[in-house]
Amino acid sequence: MGTLSEELMDERGRVMAEEEEEMIVTPWEVSGKIDYNKLIQKFGTQPLTEELLERLRKHTGKLHLQLQRKLFFSHRDLDWILDQYEGGQKFALYTGRGPSGPVHLGHIVPWIFTKHLQDAFDAKLYFQMTDDEKFLLHPEFTVEKSLSLMYDNSLDVIAMGFDPEKTSIISDFKNIKVLYDIAMRVAKHVTFSTVKAVFGFESSSNIGIIFFPAIQAAPCFVESDLTGKNVPCLIPAAIDQDPYWRVTRDIAPKLGYYKPAQIHCRFLPGLGKGGKMSASLPETCIFTTDPPDVAEKKIWNAFTGGKPTEREQRGHGGDPFVCTIYYYFYYLFEESDQKIAELERECKAGEIICGDCKRILAEKVKKFLREHQKKREKARDIADQFFMK
Ligand code: TYM
Repeated sequence: MGTLSEELMDERGRVMAEEEEEMIVTPWEVSGKIDYNKLIQKFGTQPLTEELLERLRKHTGKLHLQLQRKLFFSHRDLDWILDQYEGGQKFALYTGRGPSGPVHLGHIVPWIFTKHLQDAFDAKLYFQMTDDEKFLLHPEFTVEKSLSLMYDNSLDVIAMGFDPEKTSIISDFKNIKVLYDIAMRVAKHVTFSTVKAVFGFESSSNIGIIFFPAIQAAPCFVESDLTGKNVPCLIPAAIDQDPYWRVTRDIAPKLGYYKPAQIHCRFLPGLGKGGKMSASLPETCIFTTDPPDVAEKKIWNAFTGGKPTEREQRGHGGDPFVCTIYYYFYYLFEESDQKIAELERECKAGEIICGDCKRILAEKVKKFLREHQKKREKARDIADQFFMK
């Protein structure tokens, strides 16, 4: 018997499977029925065991909601990072964003967790803005547009509350000096046939994007490079970014660095039937810059596990496990296990209907957006403290 998170994701997978079968998970495309156990096998990562969660709990006090609810589910070398930490060796955190448009709630899932890790382990954070990646991938992007999105998305990052003393935002365009010599040393050890196999590049791919994996690898080693000591690195991100780390881990020892460790999260689904939250489906995606009433409308149009009529639902109950609204409570917007259990029971018993849940979630999301948007505005005044000098 799996955990509730696994059952939820299986049910979600079943709904998605009605439409498309093949699972595709790459840094640039996520589609089909996502089977997270299969991904662990396919990518060769390790499941987050109860034993490891217990070790984390020792250092962090209460287990973070995203761990408790199994939103983070897989890792590479997290046990080794903890061994090092327990032996007195601190690690640096590294995560990032490819600024291609506004930030959505899915993106901030790993950032919320990264902030928790920064606080709990008093860790430095390197946050990479791959403005160059998005410039290379989007034919219509100019350098100016990429830089403007980089700045705009950085406000969301700063609004998460990272410690300015311990956080450096790296814009690839603006801070290439910090990355270039590491990227060159990485690139020298990675062949075209490797990146072709891992990322699916073709003869028609532009040469910038073929080189780009070396740029995304570089921040793993920036702390080591700047301090002149070998410093372990831990990367919290969704599992779509894992292909980069497979390549990076292969070559790290050749450059004299530790292999970077990872902790992977699942994808926050969109508000539609199946699929991850994705900016390409804006009506099922809540952006951090959405006016609260726009987000509310999206929630009212969300796919739920309800019945076609109120009468049927009162009589037969709904199915919370396929319901996007239930997901949002479970993963982000309801911390109390007791309330979650009540919602589940009331839904199945037909005691509450979808409108009730949508109303409660909309209020929570609107409150979050109002607060986040205020912090985003304040971030403009302190942004300089975060950008890498
Ligand atoms: P990007 O901008 O596609 O995504 C930013 C971060 O959000 C995660 N993510 C999600 N997490 C949960 N649910 C979702 N629906 C969802 N969609 C995206 C991604 O895994 C990522 O952590 N090339 C990268 C930028 C980057 C980076 C990094 C990311 C550079 N260095 C190091 C992570 C770690 C990109 O385009 O991410």
